[in-house]
Amino acid sequence: MSKSTQSPALKTDLRPATIAIVGVGSVGATTAYTLQLSGMVADIVLIDINKDKAEGEFMDLNHAAPMTTETQVRVGDYPDCADAAIVIITGGANQKPGQTRMELAAKNAKIMEEIIPNVVKYAPDTILLIATNPVDVLTYASYKLSGFPASRIIGSGTLLDSTRLRCNIGRYYGISSDSVEASIIGEHGDSELAVWSRATIAGMSLAEFSAATQQKYNKESLHKIFEHTRDAAYNIIKRKGYTAYGIAAALTRIVEAILRDEGSLLTVSIVGNYYGVKDVALSVPTKVGRDGAHHIMDLILNQDETDRMKSSAKKIRSACESLGL
Ligand code: 2OP
Repeated sequence: MSKSTQSPALKTDLRPATIAIVGVGSVGATTAYTLQLSGMVADIVLIDINKDKAEGEFMDLNHAAPMTTETQVRVGDYPDCADAAIVIITGGANQKPGQTRMELAAKNAKIMEEIIPNVVKYAPDTILLIATNPVDVLTYASYKLSGFPASRIIGSGTLLDSTRLRCNIGRYYGISSDSVEASIIGEHGDSELAVWSRATIAGMSLAEFSAATQQKYNKESLHKIFEHTRDAAYNIIKRKGYTAYGIAAALTRIVEAILRDEGSLLTVSIVGNYYGVKDVALSVPTKVGRDGAHHIMDLILNQDETDRMKSSAKKIRSACESLGL
């Protein structure tokens, strides 16, 4: 039977919410489409300095609407953030092949200086969801620029990395990533770390699971999995020039946790004090719900993980200091 052209109703267990997306490049446009497909939000406002781009994405998304959900999409400007429950910030330059996220810090911090005050002016009670890289530094910059409490500025952080890690571990053991509990924490970038000491499958450590399934527990293979996870963006950007689907799905997952008031622990980036390093934004499992995100605990790590976490935090802090933040 051909797919009905009737839009399925919105998931009505959610209060109708407006989401604004500032920056409608590959990440912003893909996030708008992913949100539209989700049926979670009532309307999406597209804001971009390039009005033609925003108009074009609006027109294209609107042709999908009758066959997806009733989500309304419109082009707007900063005043249209006024009724947004969440404002997603994706504006800025993205990595060129071989470029690190951190190399974008100065350029994209300047762009935040333009975007954030304009959003805050019209949406003083919204939640800012930052995706622009380097996301931890720019989450901290947005915290300083907005005057918002840390809970209302959420960086996408290492949620995508943790998902990539779970996928790679699942593939290694031949099971669904849904059955893998594993986190990447710290910087969303080259100093991130996998919390192997806390990774589990069916509640068992990977060593126990390997033994129980007569598989060799191979630390070298797992380390290769981590490197493949950490370097995923480089490998994708080298081939297609940018990443979009993974980060769009991560942003949509965070939106869902907020709108459903889930209280889920997601590895997102918020400003706090971590492992003795003050005033830094980075990712640990963080409670996400309707009022934003809350750092409720430092993960108990082994000594190697603790040392690496501290150096990741110090790397982000010094990058902020070099920007005068
Ligand atoms: C990613 O990891 C580029 O930060 C983006 O896909």
